[in-house]
Amino acid sequence: MFLKNAWYVAAWAEEISWGLNSVRMHGEQIVLFRKPDGTPVALEDACPHRKLPLSKGRLQGDRIECGYHGLTFDCSGRCIRAPGQKAIPPGAFVRAYPTLERWGLVWIWMGAPGRADPARLASIEHYGDPAWGINRGEAIELDCHYLLVTDNLLDPSHVAWVHRDSFGERSCEDTPLKTAATDAGIVVYRWMKDVEVAPFYSSFVRFKGRADRLQRYEVRYPSLAIIEAIFTPAGTGGEGAALHPEAFVMESYNFMTPVDEGRTRYYWFQLRNFAPESAEVSRQMTQAVRDAFEEDRLILNAVQRGMTGSQTPHIDLALDLGPLRFRRGLNQLIAAEEQARGEAKPVT
Ligand SMILES: [Fe+2]
Repeated sequence: MFLKNAWYVAAWAEEISWGLNSVRMHGEQIVLFRKPDGTPVALEDACPHRKLPLSKGRLQGDRIECGYHGLTFDCSGRCIRAPGQKAIPPGAFVRAYPTLERWGLVWIWMGAPGRADPARLASIEHYGDPAWGINRGEAIELDCHYLLVTDNLLDPSHVAWVHRDSFGERSCEDTPLKTAATDAGIVVYRWMKDVEVAPFYSSFVRFKGRADRLQRYEVRYPSLAIIEAIFTPAGTGGEGAALHPEAFVMESYNFMTPVDEGRTRYYWFQLRNFAPESAEVSRQMTQAVRDAFEEDRLILNAVQRGMTGSQTPHIDLALDLGPLRFRRGLNQLIAAEEQARGEAKPVT
């Protein structure tokens, strides 16, 4: 069960060129294409006649012709042509999903079309800022429920164990976490004082010596994670401290799309407050992040298998507070959505 009234990433913008693309989200098969003016369109990927995926048909301007018998659909999902008969059959339509293109990504609104609101997409403060660099890589496919990924992205502790050679160092094992609820989701964070700069960051941090380090992990409902990393010379960091001129700041944006209950597609990019033009820094960051996320992917796929096939109960730890609060908050939103849907149905 997923929160429906929300935007989810369907693809990188450049993945949707001029043909028909089939994507799976929330267990629903969707055909995605562009109108001649470039606007993305998303329709149910199944002809109402014999359910041939429309993505196996032909795109003609801003219309799709089914590859089996030529039923033709416009961008609203309405059948406008049924070859061989005069009247369009009354059930000849497919579902149309609202779309949006922003931050190099194509988004689909999975809920009631009338509720689709572009303002619901969070803003990204430093995206497109000439003083900030950006790096990104291909989407990651995971064989797990997307909430195992949001658990992971509200869990700064795991870097000590999963990412020993990149994001982690010793102080990540024991420094206590703080957890806060916001209107949009949950934040888990901690300042670690006078620590080593962890390996991933050491080639990018401009100052020498030890550091104060912030790990700030935020997940907003239903599936946007913003991970902020700050390294600042030891003695200059901490809550409320002004940002030191030599501070390293990296903001990692993570967008999880549930493919279905057991699979997730995970899009990501990082913004950094230095070397904005450097393709080499971007390349190094992308490779380092890709390697680290591969460590997560292997763990999360195995956790999914472990939890699915478990023979004994599982336990929670203190570090699970943030992830569990997020799941509770999300469940409340899903329940409210269900209730509203029930109330909207006519009483028979
Ligand atoms: Fe991780």
